[in-house]
Amino acid sequence: MATQKIHIFDTTLRDGEQVPGCKLNRDEKLLIARQLELLGVDVIEAGFPVSSPGDFAAVAAIAAQTRHATVCGLSRAVENDIVTAAEALKSARHPRIHTGIGTSDSHIRFKLCTTPEKVLERAVAAVKLAKSFVEDVEFYTEDAGRTDNEFLARVCEAAIRAGATVLNIPDTTGYCLPSEYGAKIKYLADNVRGIEHVRLSTHCHNDLGMATANSIAGVLGGARQVECTINGVGERAGNTALEEAVMVLRQHPYLNFETGINTKLLAETSAMVSHLMSMPVQPNKAIVGANAFSHSSGIHQDGVIKHRETYEIIDPHEVGMPDSAIVLTARSGRAALAYRLQKIGYDFDRTALNKAYASFLVLADRQKEVVDEDLHVMVEQEQLVT
Ligand code: KIV
Ligand code: ZN
Repeated sequence: MATQKIHIFDTTLRDGEQVPGCKLNRDEKLLIARQLELLGVDVIEAGFPVSSPGDFAAVAAIAAQTRHATVCGLSRAVENDIVTAAEALKSARHPRIHTGIGTSDSHIRFKLCTTPEKVLERAVAAVKLAKSFVEDVEFYTEDAGRTDNEFLARVCEAAIRAGATVLNIPDTTGYCLPSEYGAKIKYLADNVRGIEHVRLSTHCHNDLGMATANSIAGVLGGARQVECTINGVGERAGNTALEEAVMVLRQHPYLNFETGINTKLLAETSAMVSHLMSMPVQPNKAIVGANAFSHSSGIHQDGVIKHRETYEIIDPHEVGMPDSAIVLTARSGRAALAYRLQKIGYDFDRTALNKAYASFLVLADRQKEVVDEDLHVMVEQEQLVT
């Protein structure tokens, strides 16, 4: 089976930037956009141009700067939003307008205060208007995760007829189970007329911690674009983390999917976004967290020292992270202690190692981690080297 390309749509600068305290100025957005292009994303969602003059200017500057990636601007299914997005994207080599409307009962009744038929009409009008400015129009069905599949299919079909090139099926509230979301995408792939002419896209939120799993389920169901953010930043519990989705696809080559991402740049991109957004990366974050390649329990350390693959499914260098670390704690065993001692110049025989290990455990029970300086002091104080 031929390998299929999964397009990576990065929305760090739009959905990601909606996080309180993470606002970026124009120059910071330009820096991140340049890094995203180096990283190899297919689409950069640069912002929501109608939202503020500053965001308009940032989207326009990113549009002018970006050479290879598609630059996308968000708009609601509202005339002024779409016209403003088109204006901001004027100098983009590959512009895309992303427009859409809520399709779930809850959004139609409580947010839009309208009817399903009126939503259909607004969807068609929005896509047609966007299409009058750009060839590439992505249509989102907000809260698709909680939208009835038959109605969703009707809206998608209408959007395709109006000229949409990509259909975004957001699980806006992060509600779906992976099996449910995957089945929703498959239902659309199987039942929407004209679907073969457009690309289905996943856009998952992490309210129940399932954003990445849902995105992958969507890909298995037939989606060929994944919307995501660096470090999974985004509203509430965040969005699908780009680094996770990309690495899931890469680490399962038999699935026959590929992305254009240069994974060696993942760690530095993560650090840049974390720094500019003042949003620390949790240490246990998959792929780019400080502990993602650290081993501290004796059983794991023994395995990793014998062969990295016993407890690591990714080579840290593949994602731009430093070598895996053997961290000494009270849960570490003799093998890890011997390994670290050797790294700092002590080669103990079994008897000396047993003695050192007893001293080490006393020390390790007193503190969270034992570092190399502690080992030097311990060796000296206990006169372990004669
Ligand atoms: O989560 C969502 O539904 C969105 C849309 C605006 C695309 O971010
Ligand atoms: Zn979103």
